[in-house]
Amino acid sequence: MATTLISGGTVVSSTGRREYDVLIDGERIVALLEPGSTVLGSDLRTTVDTVIDASGKYVIPGGIDAHTHMEMPFGGTFASDTFETGTRAAAWGGTTSIVDFVVQYPDQNVLDQYHLWHEKAAGNCAIDYGFHQILSDVQDSSLSAMDELVSEGVTSFKLFMAYKGVFLSDDGQILRAFQKGADNGAMMMMHAENGAMIDVLVQQLIAEGKTDPYYHGISRPWQAEEEATHRAIMIADVTGAPLYVVHVSAKQAVEQIMSARDRGMNVFGETCPQYLYLSLEEQLGAPGFEGAKWVCSTPLRARAEGHQDHMWRSLRTNDIQMVSTDHCPFCMKDQKDMGVGDFSKIPNGIGSVEHRMDLLYQGVVEGRLSLERWVEITSTTPARMFGMYGRKGVIEPGADADVVVYDPNGHTSIGLGKTHHMNMDYSAWEGFEIDGHVDTVLSRGTVVVDDGEYRGRAGHGRYIKRGLSQYLI
Ligand code: URP
Ligand code: ZN
Ligand code: ZN
Repeated sequence: MATTLISGGTVVSSTGRREYDVLIDGERIVALLEPGSTVLGSDLRTTVDTVIDASGKYVIPGGIDAHTHMEMPFGGTFASDTFETGTRAAAWGGTTSIVDFVVQYPDQNVLDQYHLWHEKAAGNCAIDYGFHQILSDVQDSSLSAMDELVSEGVTSFKLFMAYKGVFLSDDGQILRAFQKGADNGAMMMMHAENGAMIDVLVQQLIAEGKTDPYYHGISRPWQAEEEATHRAIMIADVTGAPLYVVHVSAKQAVEQIMSARDRGMNVFGETCPQYLYLSLEEQLGAPGFEGAKWVCSTPLRARAEGHQDHMWRSLRTNDIQMVSTDHCPFCMKDQKDMGVGDFSKIPNGIGSVEHRMDLLYQGVVEGRLSLERWVEITSTTPARMFGMYGRKGVIEPGADADVVVYDPNGHTSIGLGKTHHMNMDYSAWEGFEIDGHVDTVLSRGTVVVDDGEYRGRAGHGRYIKRGLSQYLI
């Protein structure tokens, strides 16, 4: 098996940083050694197959994006990244694992859908991948499928309180699914928005001629998110299920999660880069139809209300535990433009899988997060949250050699024609400048990106059979 030494770098974990040489044998990390150590008998740099010089750079566990939607059928179309294009873009940005959502629409059989997602992903992924399961039709067969899926390594299930007729489950259905989660140990994930309120507001706004993308945000007020988050927490409390609230954008929803955690509940919150950086006023409110680029749900929030700063702070203080992208890309042409003249027809989603590591690193540069917290929220916590820790999310002997060499003195300009490998005809992050750079990316010991060159291949990525969340007793 090929051996690799990543030498001279500063290994950063969620708990500290230290200079180590990282020795990789085949697909696994086998040793962390004092720089230049000869404890293994000789100067390893002369005996290993490959030496990667990481002097002056950070050596971090590969990013884990636990919320993606590759080629998802949604909003009358399909998310524009396939497993092939999306995982390649992820690798470019230092993400070495994704957890994607298998979709069950009403009347679909859960296990059929799960097998279909395996067919979509197998042989196409550049990096490793796991699955969550979306449940839109909670009936007896779906509930029994949950047990089977847990044994297959799908240990988390997403339900929706919005999108009536598409995804929405009523509170009784949610309660039944949560009871199953309490029983089999699965993490219950919630899209927490009050769909009934939103549907009426949408109709009223459209009837008033308020059809621009900006009104997507107005139709989904923070109160709809706070109320649904509270309701999900109450259902989790009644059933005893662990709860993970996805794509949290409102500071009031964070308060709900905080207070549940303060009461000792197994409640966790995820946010996304768009809720840290972007806003209702600047992006959704861009002139003409431009705002469609940033139509996603939960929506971008008003900067005037302070959600973004609050979210950064909540990340630092662990009131929000991790950052995923909710990568759900659509092109403007022939996809987002279905909603010209009616914002409710704009497919909901933003593409960011390539940029999460960089965007969060900029938070370190700007003093919002420590270096260690960056590693924690982008890799270590996602691994623990979704039952992958030990293999993923850490640089230590025995772990998969998913490693990123990150240059704090490098620079990354995001945008079309610069850094953009996602299958989209625009970048939601056009013009963002990052004071850092993903230099080298290894996936299970194989270099997939190096020095501005893609060296991976479709089919290298393997299915991750996950265990139960490692945050639960
Ligand atoms: O706008 C979004 N978030 N699209 C993806 C589907 C979901 O709700 O996560
Ligand atoms: Zn959602
Ligand atoms: Zn999503």
